[in-house]
Amino acid sequence: IAHIKGGPDEGLDRVGQTLVVMGWVRTLRVQSSVTFLEVNDGSCLSNMQCVMNSDAEGYDQVESGLIATGASIWVQGILVASQGSKQKVELKVDKVVVVGKSDPSYPIQKKSVSREFLRTKAHLRPRTNTFGAVARVRNALAYATHKFFQENGFVWISSPIITTSDCEGAGEQFCVTTLIPSSREATDSPVGAIPSTKDGLIDWSQDFFGKPAFLTVSGQLNAETYATALSDVYTFGPTFRAENSNTSRHLAEFWMIEPELAFADLNDDMACATAYLQYVVRHVLDNCKEDMEFFNTWIEKGIINRLNDVADKDFVQLTYTDAIELLLKAEKKFEFPVKWGCDLQSEHERYITEEAFNGCPVIIRDYPKEIKAFYMRQNDDGKTVAAMDMLVPRVGELIGGSQREERLDYLENRLDELKLNKESYWWYLDLHRYGSVPHAGFGLGFERLVQFATGIENIRDAIPFPRTPGSAEF
Ligand code: 4AD
Ligand code: MG
Repeated sequence: IAHIKGGPDEGLDRVGQTLVVMGWVRTLRVQSSVTFLEVNDGSCLSNMQCVMNSDAEGYDQVESGLIATGASIWVQGILVASQGSKQKVELKVDKVVVVGKSDPSYPIQKKSVSREFLRTKAHLRPRTNTFGAVARVRNALAYATHKFFQENGFVWISSPIITTSDCEGAGEQFCVTTLIPSSREATDSPVGAIPSTKDGLIDWSQDFFGKPAFLTVSGQLNAETYATALSDVYTFGPTFRAENSNTSRHLAEFWMIEPELAFADLNDDMACATAYLQYVVRHVLDNCKEDMEFFNTWIEKGIINRLNDVADKDFVQLTYTDAIELLLKAEKKFEFPVKWGCDLQSEHERYITEEAFNGCPVIIRDYPKEIKAFYMRQNDDGKTVAAMDMLVPRVGELIGGSQREERLDYLENRLDELKLNKESYWWYLDLHRYGSVPHAGFGLGFERLVQFATGIENIRDAIPFPRTPGSAEF
């Protein structure tokens, strides 16, 4: 079976071999004496060009129209050097078999189709060049993530999806409810148990076996319990936010990478975030060359140079107070007014990384405590906390992190000030009662990383099946 990976140059060493290719027909060109089939199996961006004369076994399937765009096929032939300019090798076909024919209504034809249209075809879009490339780069980023943390002695922790605590304290959680088994049978929905309040199929009061429970917004607090036992840990899993944001950088379901470092402060945290980002960027540049060339040509001109700079150069660091100064001095007129204490809006974030610092990632630290979560460590000034956000061009906030408040009395005070229910954080408070240590960590939104590394503009195109307000069809 031939998976000739890594672009058109490779495969030359296999010229003369008899190979089998299995994949999906991208295009078919029938000329008088010869037929060209472009076949792709998803292993790489390039298609295998298959050249077929009328004496090839199975050629009748070309004449009968069975071999058509979208069909899955099995092709056997000899690999030869290609005369064409697009590829170095091609397959001279001996035999072809249609494995699964494709109905003429196949919606992804050669003419380029918009990404908006493809979102309505999320089940077929991985068969396009763009979505194939995004899937492979996303996979490479996930692999590089585990590789980075494993090589640096971190232990991967599975944090729970169903939880009772609200890590960010922002009340953006989805609630878990229970279907009543007896009424589940009563449903006449064709798919089975589709909840419908109208039919009384859900007992909202029952929640999670009689207690309220939510989908997690972050695995951080759970990661902290393991960091204060195993030292350096990380999570990598799905998280959920019930914020009704229809933007190109928000999802209701997204994957988050959350390292947590014990015996560490904010400087260690920022160093870890920088080393991590540089490592994964270098990994995709080195290992996804063909896909990155594709993005460089078709999605974001210059992305390869931009990422090379990210991997090699130091990031900018400044305090929130300095960032506000910078914004106040900017000649630009912002829609949201700037003053000390305000949350940075995406227009501010973009100005800072794209204009003020010319595309360099920027880490902003020491935010006002009022706009940050309860667990962040208070600085000596009493006004700010040891928080840091990493901003990158096009995406804005890629990373949010902090040094955690390790002092029990400070933490209890903060929970009180924010009127958060101390009882529900009892186990978290225990960590500060028994062998507390300075520790720090951050969360990186994996889809935003995919956007950053591919140039894909909309976060809905950075995950196979995007969940956004009103959209969970596939
Ligand atoms: O800044 P956030 O809310 O931080 C936390 O959840 C911390 N508990 C992380 C930690 O310290 N362990 O989220 C972290 C990152 C953001 O910087 C952003 O990249 C991403 O998660 N993110 C989202 N990505 C897609 N859609 C959303 N709705 C997102 N909300 C946050
Ligand atoms: Mg944040």
